[in-house]
Amino acid sequence: AATKKYQFNVELKNVSRLCHAKPIVTVNGMYPGPTVYAREGDRVLINVTNHAQYNMSIHWHGLKQYANGWADGPAYITQCPIMTGNSYVYDFNITGQRGTLWWHAHILWLRATVYGAIVILPKQATPFPFPRPDGEQVIVFGEWWHADVEEVVKQGNALGLPPNMSDAHTINGKPGPLFPCSEKHTFAMEVEQGKKYLLRIVNAALNDELFFAIAGHNMTVVEIDAVYTKPFSTNALLIAPGQTTNVLVSANQAPGRYFMAVRPFQDVPIPVDNKTATAIFQYKNIPTTVIPTLPHLPLPNDTAFALSYNNKLRSLNTPNFPANVPLKAHYLNMKGVFNTDFPDKPPMAFNYTGAPLTANLFTTKGTRLSKIAFNSTVELVIQDTNLLSVESHPFHLHGFNFFVVGTGIGNFDPAKDPAKYNLVDPPERNTVGVPTGGWAAIRFRADNPGVWFFHCHLELHTGWGLKTAFVVEDGPVFKQYNDSHNHLFFYEYSNKIWT
Ligand code: C2O
Repeated sequence: AATKKYQFNVELKNVSRLCHAKPIVTVNGMYPGPTVYAREGDRVLINVTNHAQYNMSIHWHGLKQYANGWADGPAYITQCPIMTGNSYVYDFNITGQRGTLWWHAHILWLRATVYGAIVILPKQATPFPFPRPDGEQVIVFGEWWHADVEEVVKQGNALGLPPNMSDAHTINGKPGPLFPCSEKHTFAMEVEQGKKYLLRIVNAALNDELFFAIAGHNMTVVEIDAVYTKPFSTNALLIAPGQTTNVLVSANQAPGRYFMAVRPFQDVPIPVDNKTATAIFQYKNIPTTVIPTLPHLPLPNDTAFALSYNNKLRSLNTPNFPANVPLKAHYLNMKGVFNTDFPDKPPMAFNYTGAPLTANLFTTKGTRLSKIAFNSTVELVIQDTNLLSVESHPFHLHGFNFFVVGTGIGNFDPAKDPAKYNLVDPPERNTVGVPTGGWAAIRFRADNPGVWFFHCHLELHTGWGLKTAFVVEDGPVFKQYNDSHNHLFFYEYSNKIWT
């Protein structure tokens, strides 16, 4: 195992998109930010120096951070933000994970421009459980806003206004030629006929679940959230903010230029956001004067596609990559600076998805966390409700992967639905799209002591308060990792090696 060191300078940079130029917060002047490369087993040290006039913190989304919460990153949950002029070293080991994850600012809406991919290669001499690709490409989806992000947050937090939409979606920071002034802001991936490519796809958008397709080419899904899946072929994929998906694509069509396109899955119909960002799947030696064809994307409100796509996701569950689903689940039973009276049962009996708006307006403000004994097995059912309207919510848990043992439409029925759980090969991930007007049941083993944020990854909803945290009590793993964690090294080097 090696130690990988990165220097992240958080700094303003003038960027222009869609005929508008403005200073945006970046890492090292890059938009998207640099990709972090590491190998399973490596130690990674990232010194973040904040030169911007905003407080900053960075989250390594999907990394488990065993007993290492101080490197997790969410501001005011596991650390104070890094103030202007200061630095902070994120120091972590990558244990038992390989694949594509990502990093992003975890304060206000600064992740609008401060994000990048994390590529974790398998251990040396450990092959992928799928055919070896000839090449690979990181593909990160994002959103571009003409407005200043702070203004966007203010508008977003003013309940009652229509949802705050971005001016464009982007692929690797570029909206593509369907937007004004964007011909030169078009990402192209060069491929050779007959070769196979691994696309490492990240949805870093703030508020949109996205459909993605490549004209004329099927994709084979092989990994989600840095966990291998049973491969399946599809002509389009769905990815929620926070999620990652690896696909294999064969350049097996007539050499040409093909659009890759991304557009929101919009289960809430109004207002319609139909902006399509494009990039180019460019066969070698084909002149750029050739006009590319657009792929067929599912319609914005194609809930049936969303359900059937998500149902195809299955853990690989082979001897090398087993799915160890916690079989016995304890429901949370809890009791500081915060309350631990997070309800372990619904606060009142009601019809979550069918009742009128007024029947569901009983929320109160509070900071209620759940305390969990070390190593308990936890089952959590996340139920969408008709508070404003039904909508799908990508829920992200820090510090763990979980198994999505069940999903359904309508109200979760504790008497009937658990019998239908998939306890054999459920998808293992860190962000689950809770279906529109439905529920998702997840299970995980609380083997990672610390305070772990749990929230909707639609930034608008996080801001409105769709968030909580789990406090996992101390346990044996803490000592084990603490001993191997040499803090003298950490402090000694944090001042020296970054110049
Ligand atoms: Cu990717 Cu708490 O977030």
